[in-house]
Amino acid sequence: MHHDHPSDAPAVLAPRPRPELMELPEYRAGRPAPVVRGLAPLKLSSNESTHDLDEATRSELLAGFEFNRYPDPLTTELRASISERTGVPVDRIVTESGSLGALRLLLDVIVPRVGERADVVYPWRSFEAYPILTEVAGARGVAVPLGPAGANDLEAMAAAITDRTAAVLICTPNNPTGPVVTSAAFDRFMRSVPSDVLVVVDEAYSEFVDDPGALDGLSAFRAYPNVAVMRTFSKAYGLAGLRVGYAVVAPVIAAAMWRVRPTFAVTALAEHAAVRALDDRAGLAARVAEVRAGRRAVLEALRAAGESPADSQSNFVWFEPEDPGGFEERASAAAISVRRLGSGIRITIGDAAATERVLDVISRERAAMR
Ligand SMILES: Cc1ncc(COP(=O)(O)O)c(C=O)c1O
Repeated sequence: MHHDHPSDAPAVLAPRPRPELMELPEYRAGRPAPVVRGLAPLKLSSNESTHDLDEATRSELLAGFEFNRYPDPLTTELRASISERTGVPVDRIVTESGSLGALRLLLDVIVPRVGERADVVYPWRSFEAYPILTEVAGARGVAVPLGPAGANDLEAMAAAITDRTAAVLICTPNNPTGPVVTSAAFDRFMRSVPSDVLVVVDEAYSEFVDDPGALDGLSAFRAYPNVAVMRTFSKAYGLAGLRVGYAVVAPVIAAAMWRVRPTFAVTALAEHAAVRALDDRAGLAARVAEVRAGRRAVLEALRAAGESPADSQSNFVWFEPEDPGGFEERASAAAISVRRLGSGIRITIGDAAATERVLDVISRERAAMR
């Protein structure tokens, strides 16, 4: 008998991936914007910035770029620049390919590989990569439902900690819902967290926060030796395509991360663009102000349409319409892709023009309900 498909083959020994990985939910990226004649496509499904680099910056970055050379493995210039802006010493800053890369690296060095399988506690619904990175690191995921307002439920997360817990992931503002953890709630939480459990504060969207009571990850890092912070250039800095982010961790953890970090994880182009982005404070302030204004307008419009959106402090809004499929379709008809997750819709807030188009879809939604 002739076998030309592997599944027809008799049982022979062959390399196999770890079976538990095949049980994982697949990471689905946000869809591109649909093509609609006469309308510019608008992708609002992945919480990226709608602002791209201007032509001058673009040519400047490329002009001096050596495509033939490996990058600086330590990203010395970028870490110095982050250190200058944040006051965090450079020996506590580890850059990676996006904050996704940094989080993966961090879990790899924190989750013990001997003895019983360790736990990683994370909020749910939250960033879709958490269950995947947890499993890849060899830990068991403990998903703790969000509180009623859509923020991480720190009391329930504290209660989920056992002597098997290696790390707790906190997402503030939480993706996809948007609310923050307050510093008061975080301080209460930390009182019940054992000092050998790492608390990872994922601040991918921190630049968009304007609530004075919100937790500031770097203050928490200074106050507690077992806190780590994850940050990214993908969102407010508008460099999602270049893949650069970083972890702020205790020096002993940073040293372990540098030992296993893929040597050239951050390209020189990404490093230079990130340094420039940090220097352009006015640009950041303008983008953030535009997103905050858009967020207010979209939240208001959703409330006026009878929806109950979560109180977002981020560059997206989340609501659970009666007919999420219908909303997604109406957005598609306007050449806009949004993100549908379970019973909810997440819309990224972009520049003023993007907001105008979103408001238009919401007002049509209102009409459709009448
Ligand atoms: C909460 C959160 N953390 C981390 C990331 C990863 O971003 P990046 O790897 O681009 O830095 C995202 C991206 O959507 C996110 O929502």
